[in-house]
Amino acid sequence: TGRKFFVGGNWKMNGDKKSIEELANTLNNAKLNPDTEVVCGAPSIYLDYARSKLNPNIDVAAQTCYKVAKGAFTGEISPAMIKDCGVKWVILGHSERRHVFGESDELIGQKVAHALENGLGVIACFGEKLDEREAGITEKVVFAQTKFIADNVKDWSKVVLAYEPVWAIGTGKTASPQQVETSRLTLNKHVSFTSVTQSLSAVLSGSVTGGTCKELASQKDVDGFLVGGASLKPEFIDIINAKA
Ligand code: G3H
Repeated sequence: TGRKFFVGGNWKMNGDKKSIEELANTLNNAKLNPDTEVVCGAPSIYLDYARSKLNPNIDVAAQTCYKVAKGAFTGEISPAMIKDCGVKWVILGHSERRHVFGESDELIGQKVAHALENGLGVIACFGEKLDEREAGITEKVVFAQTKFIADNVKDWSKVVLAYEPVWAIGTGKTASPQQVETSRLTLNKHVSFTSVTQSLSAVLSGSVTGGTCKELASQKDVDGFLVGGASLKPEFIDIINAKA
């Protein structure tokens, strides 16, 4: 396939100028696989700062954005503002946005459409909660989430889909090869054009570490990772270099 290995780091609500500068120095001085696309998701107030500290070969992502260009939406940021800071990506539909801040499938779909229309790359997240998995409705949940995403995408080359089962976030558990395959099959049902699925990057998320990344990267359905906790540590370099 034409898919490039993709490793996103999601710093979530962590860090300060000092730690961002240190992490940027560590990444800038490391030998990173040039065939891997690397993106760091910074808190919105540090987007400009992170962009200024990281080498140009390392992209930056916002962790969310709103669905319109501007206006009376206190606290929100728009894709135009993100781009104005030299940032090319946005993470949308992260499970914390869905489950802590109550974002609906529909809102996430609208955000995906607006971000893509305004030229941002989108890391679109989906994944079931533990109770949903235990109730046997994983496929239904994943189907609904990915439908709202897929219905709002015209050009898949600007989209990375992150399968992020909520039970795997920060828990030390990661989806098994079989679970990844199921999610990929579900995706293929939605995005049914072969040419699209071949160019579509589907990355795995949830407790990926320097210790587990190599084996995970060798799975056929894993095109990369979206990394939370470990993206704040030097082991993020090992994860970037997981694909031999
Ligand atoms: O965005 C990242 C995911 O929520 C995974 O986080 O690697 O800390 O489990 P984690």
